[in-house]
Amino acid sequence: MANDESREVRSRRVRVATDVELAYDDAGSGPPLLLVHGFPLDRTLWRPQMGTLARQARLIAPDLRGFGESDAAAPYSMERYADDLVAVLDALGIDRAIVAGVSMGGYITFALWRRHPERVRALVLVDTRAVPDTDAGRTRRREMIALARSRGAAAIADEMLPTLVGTTTREERSEIAREVHAMMARAPVPGIVGALEAMMARPDSTPTLGTITVPTLVVRGEEDAIATPEDAESMRRGIAGSRLAAIPRAGHASNVERPSAFDRVVADFLATLPA
Ligand code: MLT
Repeated sequence: MANDESREVRSRRVRVATDVELAYDDAGSGPPLLLVHGFPLDRTLWRPQMGTLARQARLIAPDLRGFGESDAAAPYSMERYADDLVAVLDALGIDRAIVAGVSMGGYITFALWRRHPERVRALVLVDTRAVPDTDAGRTRRREMIALARSRGAAAIADEMLPTLVGTTTREERSEIAREVHAMMARAPVPGIVGALEAMMARPDSTPTLGTITVPTLVVRGEEDAIATPEDAESMRRGIAGSRLAAIPRAGHASNVERPSAFDRVVADFLATLPA
């Protein structure tokens, strides 16, 4: 995920609770843009953005608790992850940020909006969905928990890669698929289990959509096998004034699969925000 310009990334740690420190990357300058990774990933997911996009915004990319170099400590919930992120903003003296969340990062972004709307300047909802898990989805999460406990993160990575990365990327840019696999395979098992339980318990964010009053961009990789076109369209319809951008030839990890296209739609959106 590294590129030449990622050398300018500052990696730091911040205490967000008595027993939890989060690691985060901080790069660029301009309006603060908080980047929230998905499951079971870490902040290096955003390395492709640390070049071009860091020229338009100050990018702050934390590892969620239980992932990457952050401490793994229960409890895990969308609300707790959101509060951790606000503690990062507090530590950096940032009043309001544009918040961009991919997939589980989007579920957390909805919780952040519900709990701390005054901290949000705009939203970017990437390859995510407002609806909660179905019964079948919860059964699948329980199987994944059992798999993580019995065979570890590498087995989770093997299981998830085909849905996490689009067909075109797997066929034509296999090095990207390998990097995403490696990121999942190094995730700590307590963080994986905590996030799966938290996602199973997450509330329906559909009623939240109508409460969103900040500028919002919905982004979806056209080959996303997890967040459907209907998921993206219902968020666009539900959030007044929002717009939807499609990333062709990309799947669920659209920001790493097609970073130039992803950066372009986000940069165009940032340019529309009131000063
Ligand atoms: C993610 O990418 O964060 C997960 O696939 C989300 C989910 O499993 O619902």
